[in-house]
Amino acid sequence: MFDCYAQRRARLMDKMQHGIAILPTAPEQRRNGDADYSYRFDSNFYYLSGFNEPESVLVLVAGTPHRSILFCRDKDMEREIWHGYRSGPDAAQEKFGFDAAYPIAQLDEKLAELMGNQRTLFYPLGLDAAWDQRVLKIRGEVAQKARSGIRAPDEIRDVRVLLNEMRLFKDLHEIDAMRRAADISVGAHRRAMQFARPGQFEYQVEAELLHEFCRHGARDPAYTSIVAGGKNACVLHYIENNAKLHDGDLLLIDAGCELDGYASDITRTFPVNGKFSAAQKHVYEIVLAAQFAAIAKAVPGNDWEAPHNAALAVLAQGFIDLKLCQGTVDGVLESGSYKKFYMHRTGHWLGMDVHDVGDYKINEQWRPLENGMVLTVEPGCYIRPGDDVPLALWNIGIRIEDDVLVTADGNDVLTDAAPKTVAQIEELMRQA
Ligand code: GLY
Ligand code: MN
Ligand code: MN
Repeated sequence: MFDCYAQRRARLMDKMQHGIAILPTAPEQRRNGDADYSYRFDSNFYYLSGFNEPESVLVLVAGTPHRSILFCRDKDMEREIWHGYRSGPDAAQEKFGFDAAYPIAQLDEKLAELMGNQRTLFYPLGLDAAWDQRVLKIRGEVAQKARSGIRAPDEIRDVRVLLNEMRLFKDLHEIDAMRRAADISVGAHRRAMQFARPGQFEYQVEAELLHEFCRHGARDPAYTSIVAGGKNACVLHYIENNAKLHDGDLLLIDAGCELDGYASDITRTFPVNGKFSAAQKHVYEIVLAAQFAAIAKAVPGNDWEAPHNAALAVLAQGFIDLKLCQGTVDGVLESGSYKKFYMHRTGHWLGMDVHDVGDYKINEQWRPLENGMVLTVEPGCYIRPGDDVPLALWNIGIRIEDDVLVTADGNDVLTDAAPKTVAQIEELMRQA
């Protein structure tokens, strides 16, 4: 079960070829007083270890043989009575297949030994100032031993350059986790459609989403849910979620759970009263057509920009039809006049982080889409009131977002089961 982590460590060390990598996990975060935020490990640390306890550091020494060493909290009965189970180094080594494990209190001393005579230090420099200082101090102490014939690493490389590229291509274990996260979030969106009605508050719908996440084992959302009724949908990062839902308004929900460290990211927009008005339907069908066009382009052989360009072409024509933009499709695209109503990009990589790691360009060219990549496809349209905007369209905000796995011969929309055609949405809401 934990083989995938050992395999990833081995692959990273193969890429390093030589040197030492140091990867601390994330610290616990104080919210206020004695209350902490829900703990979330560092994505890279977890990707390579599967170990979810705070105060842990993974050290990899590439060579023959490669070595993986974990530093973690010691067993401590007193603290375990108050705060819960700690693996301790021995059990962690056994369970997760490290070559060695030591108490975190021994980190500085052991690191100084392990760093000696390694030429290259692979480290996420700049991520955390306190860790930077600590690691550089240890390196400085190793450098002091030059007269004993011990050399400190004279090269520091950002380990994330290698890791980001690995994480961009999801392995089978990751795809399985992402499918399960997607399924739970699909259920949450269906539940929200069945629950939302005029007179309820946005936070009441949010509660339904969180309930559905949690009851399937996804304790945290992958990001703060956006539950935006009416004009609030035109605020791209609206998270107040405290307004009343009105008859005749649309409700935009952008919400996805995190499961086993993997994000899902779905947006659906539907009428609060269960029936699209003619104007809402007109705009909705344009965004949906843009989304279908973009998904069709999210296949191997196309580059990263192809889905975005496909969505833009459909939206530009739609904005002309709606009298939001004037002129030809080429003219609208060239002048950028569409940006008044569609001001974000059509997607991002998705994985352990909702905006996941991985380069979008290689040698200044948009990179090709390849088997194993996961991206979102999320066109939208946000119409604020204005003199030059038809009145019937004021305050309509729509986004439709799915999570798409690129496969060897096409793609697989992981979140496809969340209703998104007008007929599917109205049918589900009618049944509620
Ligand atoms: N929910 C964040 C995004 O869609 O990018
Ligand atoms: Mn997204
Ligand atoms: Mn989203």
